[in-house]
Amino acid sequence: MSPDFTTTQSGAPLASDAHSLTTGPDGITALHDHALVEKLASFNRERVPERNPHAKGGGAFGEFVVTEDVSRFTRAAVFQPGAMSEVIQRFSSVAGEQGSPDTWRDVRGFSLRFYTTEGNYDIVGNNTPVFFIRDAMKFPDFIHSQKRLGGSGLRDADMQWDFWTLSPESAHQVTYLMGDRGLSKSWRHLNGYGSHTYQWINAAGERFWVQYHFHSRQGVERLDAADAEHLAGSDTDFYRRDLYDAIERGEAPIWDVFVQIMPYEDAKTYRFNPFDITKVWPHADYPLIKVGHYTLNRNPQNFFAEIEQAAFSPANLVPGIGISPDKMLMARVFSYSDAQRYRIGTNYNQLPVNQPHATEARNYQHEGSMRYEFSDATARVYTPNSYGGPEAEPARTAEGSWETDGLLMHAAQTLHSEDDDFGQAGTLYREVFDDAAKERLLEVLVGQYGALTVDRIKERFVWYWTQVDDGLGWSIASAVGAPVGAPVA
Ligand code: HEM
Repeated sequence: MSPDFTTTQSGAPLASDAHSLTTGPDGITALHDHALVEKLASFNRERVPERNPHAKGGGAFGEFVVTEDVSRFTRAAVFQPGAMSEVIQRFSSVAGEQGSPDTWRDVRGFSLRFYTTEGNYDIVGNNTPVFFIRDAMKFPDFIHSQKRLGGSGLRDADMQWDFWTLSPESAHQVTYLMGDRGLSKSWRHLNGYGSHTYQWINAAGERFWVQYHFHSRQGVERLDAADAEHLAGSDTDFYRRDLYDAIERGEAPIWDVFVQIMPYEDAKTYRFNPFDITKVWPHADYPLIKVGHYTLNRNPQNFFAEIEQAAFSPANLVPGIGISPDKMLMARVFSYSDAQRYRIGTNYNQLPVNQPHATEARNYQHEGSMRYEFSDATARVYTPNSYGGPEAEPARTAEGSWETDGLLMHAAQTLHSEDDDFGQAGTLYREVFDDAAKERLLEVLVGQYGALTVDRIKERFVWYWTQVDDGLGWSIASAVGAPVGAPVA
């Protein structure tokens, strides 16, 4: 008998792969055809809910190596000189659904997990150093505005620009998005950022604020808008295919890892609030410090098991690394594992891609849906116990911390001396974009204006870009024949 014969899930041989059990060749189907019922039932349950934002993506595994010495800033084992860690990275688009074209203009997700000896450490960032909003309370509204209208189920330019122009803190990120970073040549040709400020703690307990930068050794390259539009129709999975094929060809992409370090006390008086994710720290204030590099050299063996079920989270921290009082980040620490319990299931952390690889999980959580790992029969399921079970060792943790006190309130973040909504967006436009990039931005914005149908949103659109840069606002206005003035509402 063939060793490859098919069976039911419980291992019994199947009578047929092609024919259901019927009363005669043309009769009715028997409900007790368990093999048929099991096959259809399994099929009906193949999909897990897609990620709400960042549904379309792809990724690969690789290795990270620390080539420099940053141990004076953090005691994290993953960043000690010479340390090597396995990594998995997932790239994504923010707004589109699972099957959406890769080359629609969008910010690209940049998720990186280090499987460290002290637990999994995830940096869940983007290919831009800033974000659209600065308070988690607005996040679901922001994502709703980028997805589809409730009524028609259509994407809608009015909705996107209505939200952005009523949320002027978005200007910096929208300038990036409408510029060249909104259409990368591939996932291999983009830089990544942690975007938030995080905390590093060294062996002496000293604290520093840190920002992560990942520079592509492949270079940062863009797609022409016309090529992107063509590819959106002809090769929906253009980015996913490019990464997969490059790794199969042996062209493993590499990113250099840098940090900016801010002394702990500087945060109080720095000219920009360092916990505002709509702002960058200019490199002249805090230069880049090299840490090491990582290489993506191994494709997943199974996309669903290893990429779709990968559960990245800003809550996955390790000793020597903490979060900061960034209102977005504090909420993200809750949000991701909550989404993953719903999207994948209670015990999602047991899946091979989500388990720690360089250490093991040890605690007293047990049972729950689909739990298959269990300790030996003598292990206790409670703590404290007198059977030698594991106990917390606070000295190992080196958690982040900061002083906090005050009346509970719903309030905007404190403004530092140079904080406003449009200043850094203007600097990006004037000082970072070259003339050709400025021309392309103008062309994109004129096109975006053309998709708007509501007068008050059109007015706010021109006002918004005039705030970013007066000349840019005037150029848009004259190209589209619109007046420049304060919006009506
Ligand atoms: C309060 C603000 C935010 C909330 C509540 C939020 C929430 C979420 C949720 C629920 C997911 C899906 C997770 C999953 O199902 O596995 C997700 C995915 C993602 N988010 Fe956020 N997000 C926020 C802000 C941000 C920011 C600021 C960034 C980047 C700097 C970011 C980058 C990503 C990325 C890259 C993914 C895809 C993760 C993956 O590759 O699996 N998000 N977000």
